[in-house]
Amino acid sequence: MTRTRLKTTFNNIELENPFLLASAPPTRTADMIKRAFEAGWGGAVTKTIGLQGATNVRPRFGFLKERARVVGMTNFELISEKGLDLWVEAIGDVKACFPDRPLVASIMGSVEFAEWEILALAVQSAGADAIELNVSCPHGMPEQHMGAFMDQDPALIKGATAAVAAAARVPVWVKLTPNVTDIASMALAAKEEGADAIAAINTVAGLVGIDLDTFEPIPSVSRRGAYGGYSGRGVKPIALRAVSTIAATTALPVSGCGGITCWEDAAEFILAGAGTLQVCTAVMLNGFGLIRDLERGLEEYLERKGFDTLSDAVGRALPHIGDYASLDPDVDAYARVLSEKCNACGNCVPACFDGGFQAISMNGEAARVDAELCDGCGLCASVCRVGAIEMVPGHRPPSTAEASS
Ligand SMILES: Cc1cc2nc3c(=O)[nH]c(=O)nc-3n(C[C@H](O)[C@H](O)[C@H](O)COP(=O)(O)O)c2cc1C
Repeated sequence: MTRTRLKTTFNNIELENPFLLASAPPTRTADMIKRAFEAGWGGAVTKTIGLQGATNVRPRFGFLKERARVVGMTNFELISEKGLDLWVEAIGDVKACFPDRPLVASIMGSVEFAEWEILALAVQSAGADAIELNVSCPHGMPEQHMGAFMDQDPALIKGATAAVAAAARVPVWVKLTPNVTDIASMALAAKEEGADAIAAINTVAGLVGIDLDTFEPIPSVSRRGAYGGYSGRGVKPIALRAVSTIAATTALPVSGCGGITCWEDAAEFILAGAGTLQVCTAVMLNGFGLIRDLERGLEEYLERKGFDTLSDAVGRALPHIGDYASLDPDVDAYARVLSEKCNACGNCVPACFDGGFQAISMNGEAARVDAELCDGCGLCASVCRVGAIEMVPGHRPPSTAEASS
């Protein structure tokens, strides 16, 4: 089914929808990418290609769970185990089967920047529609002066970008790490050297947990662990910040990535300035079929909000995002309990008592807010599981205690 609002162009590349598989295990082989295209993905970024294939350790994934639900995962997977020659074949294979479906080749060389050029020329000749520079792996191959050796150094990112931009006829995307203080300056460095777009974010450096019995980090490889890259739902706020900052600062097209799990996430990234979207962890957990919900949900959202095209929605949140100093401290707000919805669970009481302003108490069948004590911070509304507390903007009522709406 064609969803007309989702059609878009990014760096003059036409896409049926903005959803690309991110560079990761789901794009490990030509067959997997072809299956994803059959399922409806708008495009794909290959697993990162080096001159030689890498050798992985196992196991290499760890999970942060809330009850049975995965909040995020860490990995210390390296770039593709296949070298450049096999990828040249794989890219040709995918493009022969899906000539109109954008395939982006992710590449990684070392600080010998001529390697980046060799990789770029090879994947371009094989048929890649764009080249994504992976200068952002937080853990892999620093001993070879790749990945984690260069991800936080703008001079090295410039070197790789310049080498590829000089050689490439197809658009050059630079994929950045969030593990820096100022990601916008990294994006500007890439722009100066000819990047056509920025992809953000790669994984967040992390350690997902420690086994309480064995004292070993998770995952453990023969009783040892290592810092890895954190991804999935939990990184969405970091990614949204990165995408919006880069979009506002560089005016380059941004391919947003990091924690996209459902269509609502996708819509948020678009509003924050992303022109395309990349998904990895949610696909690893749910499979390629996820695209159906993403597409349907985003199309319906655009229609509901009156956007004829996806590009009309790109960046619509940006005028509302700024520094803290731009916020007005004189704007007042207070919490109001909707007594007909409140189930008297009492969740909000300790939150307000010990984490806030001691403004909420239980009043028989419903919570009760003392409007004079209420600071308007919003904690109670966040911990309420049934949506029975709303934050009311403006001046609070003069009474000392407000029991309900
Ligand atoms: C197991 C795994 C392997 C990954 N391998 C690569 C890679 O080879 N190249 C790359 O640029 N990013 C790689 N990534 C990062 C993802 O492409 C993506 O940027 C990150 O996971 C955030 O997106 P997500 O929250 O949708 O997973 C990998 C991520 C995971 C979880």
